[in-house]
Amino acid sequence: MRFLFIGDIVGRPGRNIVKSMLPQLKVECSPDVVIVNAENAAGGNGLTEQVANELYNDGVDFITLGNHVWDKKDILDFIDREERIVRPANYPPGTPGKGYKVFTKNNIKLSVINLQGRVYMQALECPFRTMDNILAHIANQTNIIIVDIHAEATSEKMALGYYLDGKVSAVLGTHTHIQTADDKILPKGTGYITDVGMTGPYESILGIKKENIIARFLTHMPNRFEVATGTSQLNAVILEVDNVTGKAVSIERLQKYCD
Ligand code: FE2
Repeated sequence: MRFLFIGDIVGRPGRNIVKSMLPQLKVECSPDVVIVNAENAAGGNGLTEQVANELYNDGVDFITLGNHVWDKKDILDFIDREERIVRPANYPPGTPGKGYKVFTKNNIKLSVINLQGRVYMQALECPFRTMDNILAHIANQTNIIIVDIHAEATSEKMALGYYLDGKVSAVLGTHTHIQTADDKILPKGTGYITDVGMTGPYESILGIKKENIIARFLTHMPNRFEVATGTSQLNAVILEVDNVTGKAVSIERLQKYCD
């Protein structure tokens, strides 16, 4: 089974490059499943139902989220009835939405799990122990398991990768918006990359206008962050997983640009 995992979609520029490039990527990479991290897909922060539907119409199968999950209040109206979205699984009990789902595509069962790191981020439940619990629940359902670890610290993501090596098909990092050059298969067969990177404005600081971010660093004053414009980039990985063993066969990083 082949996966195309597209990194953090930022605002309309991110959505537009997905819309324009996904048909061609489907021809080039023949993915069975397209997963995107869309926590910043609506106006640069959060996700709305309208934007989620737009992504599905463009050919996205599944959406993962992260620390901006609640930025658009609209999500509270639909996350509980949405079968194709996961938010970080290590939010406390009682939080709306689900952190993992098992679904079927092309008659094959697979699971997508979203986790959030804790280093320089909110003090959520332990992502490592949360994974132990989830794996115990889905063990007899599927061994094709894709984990999006939405985290700041490289060390935390790598530690989770090695912790889950051999137990899941892939551990794919998101959140930092910069693609890392460490795509590899870990010793026991788990595909890994520290960060898939961002899908949005290229000439920007993590998708936001450079001037906004520089002003924040210079003055420490609160200011409005606006999504940048101009050339867009799409950052992704193509992952192939053995349907029987659930282990990664290959993982390859991808960067595309579009005016
Ligand atoms: Fe994030």
